Amino acid sequence: MNIEVLISEEKLQERIQEIASEIEKDYQGEDVVFCSVLKGAIFFTVDLMKKYKGDALIDFIRVSSYEGENSTGKITLKIPLQKEHIEGKNIILVEDIVDTGRTFNYLVDYVKDLNPKSVKTCVLLDKKARRIEHFEADYVGFSIDDLFVIGYGLDYDEKYRNLPYVGYVKKN
Ligand code: IMP
Ligand code: MG
Repeated sequence: MNIEVLISEEKLQERIQEIASEIEKDYQGEDVVFCSVLKGAIFFTVDLMKKYKGDALIDFIRVSSYEGENSTGKITLKIPLQKEHIEGKNIILVEDIVDTGRTFNYLVDYVKDLNPKSVKTCVLLDKKARRIEHFEADYVGFSIDDLFVIGYGLDYDEKYRNLPYVGYVKKN
């Protein structure tokens, strides 16, 4: 595959530092739980947490909606959260990318049902052009064009997650 770099490793890390500082300001003195959406968001979540200076916990949830390049539209919960880890806590849902908006809307509703103190959303990449359901994240890394992207956690049929940058497949 002919992979072009869209966002370099350096730009990713710079922007993630800015988001970490923004979150620090918003939650001064309060614990937060970074709730990472497996598998795509783990790279982003780890780098964000390492840059975050306040008190933070980590948790994981797994849903799936995608096969190949296409969203199936149907979201299945593969690894749930435990209510006792969420109840009364400040939850920040961390995702790799928002596309149609379906996954995030599903996740926010799911977390709200577990009685958190608050819920916010943080996403590395936002593909606004593809939105089917209305959704605005509280923290956004980069807005990107309608491209299928891979790397830094994002996969194409489970591959390419390990690229240190965000890239796209150049079709020729
Ligand atoms: P949504 O429910 O359509 O917003 O889809 C969000 C999920 O689709 C993300 O968590 C990704 O797993 C996947 N996804 C959407 N666009 C891309 C892409 O360009 N590359 C890789 N995965 C994507
Ligand atoms: Mg995902």
